[in-house]
Amino acid sequence: MTKIGIIGGSGLDNPDILQDAHDVEVETVYGSPSSPLKEGTIAGKEVAILARHGREHTIPPTYVNYRANIMALKGAGCDVILATTACGSLREEIKRGDLVILDQFIDFTRLRQVSFHERFEPNCAVHTGMADPFDEGLRSKLNAACDALDIAHHKVGTVITIEGSRFSTRAESNMFRLWGADVINMSVAPECILANEAGLPYAAVAMSTDYDCWKTDEAPVTWEEILEVFHGNVEKVVSLLIETIKALD
Ligand code: ADE
Repeated sequence: MTKIGIIGGSGLDNPDILQDAHDVEVETVYGSPSSPLKEGTIAGKEVAILARHGREHTIPPTYVNYRANIMALKGAGCDVILATTACGSLREEIKRGDLVILDQFIDFTRLRQVSFHERFEPNCAVHTGMADPFDEGLRSKLNAACDALDIAHHKVGTVITIEGSRFSTRAESNMFRLWGADVINMSVAPECILANEAGLPYAAVAMSTDYDCWKTDEAPVTWEEILEVFHGNVEKVVSLLIETIKALD
């Protein structure tokens, strides 16, 4: 049976959604993951939850050990990964509290390790295809669950992942809109790249918490706003994860 890895982002650092929950400390050849794995079941299915930024949110996006996080879930026997993230909206129609089932990313990070391969075996180069990086099977289950639960959502969306930890300037925010990005965050692209390299199907649910700073009739985003909007809507993400996991084979 499928074992599901969940990577909880900002606002979902330590969710209480598992039956028979217990902590498992893991180490990987890439170092320690951001948190112990919280293992248990949802609807009878095995689930392992990892807090991307640590359970007390102590790890900034640049310093998350994404390689260790992906390897920890793979090592725990997870077959698929569902990730959650807060994001800024770069489109008027993506409103605060809406969910976006991401289908593309633009990687605008600069300081992350985005490959497991530090050296190729002789004559064995590995270059991973990334044309459609989010798993279609998981995406369609997430979209179907949003429909069933009547959650306001967008079935596709391109995320641009920036380095952070600072937010964007208005010039950058406008440029990202011109580039075709729909939402912005600081974590999904490296994680998605590494999950693909590791051969783990990966999908991400992004909750829009703000309009970044391109929208000049609003005050620019703040961290306090992100937390307030995420916490006000977190039940949607939790019920979406549960409904989706029920539908996984
Ligand atoms: N996460 C949530 N909102 C964001 C924004 N505006 N920029 C980058 N990451 C975010």
